[in-house]
Amino acid sequence: MASYDVIIIGAGPGGYVCAIRCAQLGLKTAIVEGRETLGGTCLNVGCIPSKALLHATHMLHEAEHNFASMGLKGKSPSVDWDQMKAYKDDVIGQNTSGVEFLMKKNKVDWLKGWASIPEAGKVKVGDDTHEAKNIVIASGSVPSALPGVEVDNEKGIVVDSTGALELPKVPKKMVVIGAGVIGLELGSVYARLGAEVTVVEYMDAVCPGMDKDVQRTFKRILEKQGLTFIMGAAVQGVETTKTKGKVKYQLKSGGDENQLDADVVLVATGRKPYADGLGLDALGVKLTDRGQIATDGHWATNVNGLYAIGDVIEGPMLAHKAEDEGMAVAEVLAGKHGHVNYGVIPGVVYTTPEVATVGATEDALKAEGRRVKVGKFNFMGNGRAKAVHQGEGFVKIITDAETDRILGAAIIGPSAGDLIHELCVAMEFGASAEDVALTCHAHPTYSEAVREAALACGDGAIHS
Ligand code: NAI
Repeated sequence: MASYDVIIIGAGPGGYVCAIRCAQLGLKTAIVEGRETLGGTCLNVGCIPSKALLHATHMLHEAEHNFASMGLKGKSPSVDWDQMKAYKDDVIGQNTSGVEFLMKKNKVDWLKGWASIPEAGKVKVGDDTHEAKNIVIASGSVPSALPGVEVDNEKGIVVDSTGALELPKVPKKMVVIGAGVIGLELGSVYARLGAEVTVVEYMDAVCPGMDKDVQRTFKRILEKQGLTFIMGAAVQGVETTKTKGKVKYQLKSGGDENQLDADVVLVATGRKPYADGLGLDALGVKLTDRGQIATDGHWATNVNGLYAIGDVIEGPMLAHKAEDEGMAVAEVLAGKHGHVNYGVIPGVVYTTPEVATVGATEDALKAEGRRVKVGKFNFMGNGRAKAVHQGEGFVKIITDAETDRILGAAIIGPSAGDLIHELCVAMEFGASAEDVALTCHAHPTYSEAVREAALACGDGAIHS
C-alpha cells in the first residue's frame, strides 16, 4: 500500500492536467487509469483522432474542389482508408505517449487498472489499496444510449463516435442521428470521403443552443458540402440486417413513420457521466438529478476529501473545461485559490469552416430583457479569407448597449476556433468592443474580421 496526498481517478484532459498541477504544487500524486494509454476519451477516441481525420479529409476536399482554380492541375488523390486510419493512430500515439512522458517528468505515479473507492481516503486498484488525503474523480463520460437503438461498434453497422473512427471501409450511405458537435464533425469526415450522409435531428436547428445566425449559416454551408438534413425528426429505433441498418423516425409535424436505409448509422445524441464501478452509492456520494456527481464551488463532493471534475460533474462536456477544473482543484488542494470562469468557456466545432462561440447568445440576452448591440462582419470582406477560398461566414460580437462591454461572440469561418480566443481574453478583462476595435490587427489576417465586428458595434466596420 502506498500513501499519497492526492489520487486522481481518470487520465483524460481533466485528470492528467490536475495531476501535473498537483505535482507542480508539491503534492505527492498518483493517477489511476485502466486504459492501455493515457489521455482518456479525448486523446484516444475523441477530439484528437477526429481532428486527424478532419484534417486529412479537408486536404482531400481542397484537392478535389479548389486546386484546379489555383492552377494546381492533375488527378485528385485517391483515398487509402487504411493508411488514413494509420495516420490517425500515429497522431493518437504521439499524444498519449506525450502524456506518459509528462507523468514521468512530474513524478506522478500511474496506477494501472480500474479504480474503486472502498471508503473515504482509500483507492483500490486491482489487489492494491492505496491511501490518499484527497481523491479527485475525473472519470469522464460515455455516449448515452438511445431507446430502441443498439450500438455495436464491433459489427460496425450501428456505431457511436468510437466505432465511427474505426470503420472497416467508407460507407456508401451513412445516417447520422443527432446534429450536434459529434454528428457534424464525423458526418463531415465521411461526406468528404464520398459517403452519402443524411443527418436526422430532433430539433429544428443544428447545434441546439448555439447562436441562431450561426445555426442557419452553418446548416446552409454543410448542405452545400453535400450533407442532407432531416430536421424536427425523432428517431425511434434502428433495425439491422447482417450488412445494413434501417433508421425509423417520426416527424414532429406528424404523419406516418419514415425510414432510411444506411450501411452505417452513427448515433451522436449526447454523452452521459461515467462513474461505474467506483462505488459511489456505497459511499453515499450525492448526485444531481441528471446523474452527475454533485459538487460545491470548490469541486468538493459531500464526502470528505472527495472531489470531482470534468464531464462527470455539471457543465459543458468539453476537454478544456475539465482541464481548467483540474488546475483549479489542484490549487484548492494545495491551499491556494482555484478559480474557473464558467462565463468564458469557448465551444468549437472543427468542421470547415470552423464554428466557435463564447459567452451569452443574442437571443438569451434579449430574453433576459438586456439591451444589447450586435456587431457583425462577413468574411467576404476579409482579403485573407478570400485568398484561401474561405470567404463564407462571419464574426458576430454582442455587447451591452450602454457600457459596450462584450457579453458574447460567435464566429463561423476560417480558424474560428483560434480567433475566438481574442474575444475570450477581452471578456476575461471586462473589455469593451471599442478596446478590441482600437487594437491594431495585422494585415492580412483573419483576425481583422474580429476587429471589424468590434468596429461594427460602434461607428461601423470599414470593409462592409
Ligand atoms: P450533442 O448534445 O452536442 O448533440 C446531440 C444531438 O442529438 C442534439 O442536437 C439532439 O437534439 C439530438 N437528438 C437527441 N435524441 C435524438 C433523437 N431521438 N432523434 C434525433 N435527434 C436526437 O451531443 P454529441 O454531438 O453526441 O456530443 C456529446 C458531447 O461531446 C457534447 O457535450 C459535445 O460538446 C462534446 N463534444 C465536443 C466536441 C468539440 O468540442 N469539438 C467534439 C465532440 C464532442
